[in-house]
Amino acid sequence: MELIRAKDYADMSRKAANIIFAQVVLNPKSVLGLATGDTPLGTYAQLIEKQKAGDCSFAQCSSYNLDEYVGLSADHPQSYHYFMRTNFFDAVDIDAANTHVPDGAAADVEAACTEYDRMVAAAGYPDLQLLGIGRNGHIGFNEPGDTFPRGTHVVDLTESTIEANSRLFDSIDEVPRQAISMGIQTIMSAHRILILASGEQKAQAVHDMVLGPITPQVPASILQLHPACTVIADEAALALC
Ligand code: GLP
Repeated sequence: MELIRAKDYADMSRKAANIIFAQVVLNPKSVLGLATGDTPLGTYAQLIEKQKAGDCSFAQCSSYNLDEYVGLSADHPQSYHYFMRTNFFDAVDIDAANTHVPDGAAADVEAACTEYDRMVAAAGYPDLQLLGIGRNGHIGFNEPGDTFPRGTHVVDLTESTIEANSRLFDSIDEVPRQAISMGIQTIMSAHRILILASGEQKAQAVHDMVLGPITPQVPASILQLHPACTVIADEAALALC
């Protein structure tokens, strides 16, 4: 695991965008694994600027997102489909047909999970997978548990994740209780991983991911075993490291 220390959120976002920018310039047909949440927003904003300035193009890229809430349609304002469209896809030159987010509104979510894994595998897995980290050490929606989930699967969200994500909904009762998430095996199959963390509320999770034992109780700790994983965290998130 390589650790890049950033000063603050803006510095973390610039550093992350520079790495993704280089990936896309070096391989215009990159398969990108993408994440939602507040953490990557600054990175997406930087990439939008670079593309608009003509410094890179996503026209030949494809993307696979990590997760989606069960029960929210793609046009629901709190869905991760909507998040990706409004915060990245619509602002850059990526072909919408080449962007993929798990289908939380599928009639058969189990079949949608199997199909998503097939598609990610057929694409050869992401050249670069962008990740954030939950306060409890989750990645995607792989919550702490007794085992590392393998493929894309349906997850029962923990109370701490429901509470943390309720800030984006009108009330906590509106937060879906389940999500579809790429599994740990799928995430670990990415050729390169970039995980971002900002703020003191992530300090314990970052400490446990980087310095703690590898355990499904801290899903991000498995990243210690990935051969090309870079952590970019700011000073507040590194307070315990
Ligand atoms: C959600 C997402 C994760 C994300 C995490 C942290 O649970 N499923 O992919 O990394 O929250 O979000 P934030 O970046 O807003 O702190």
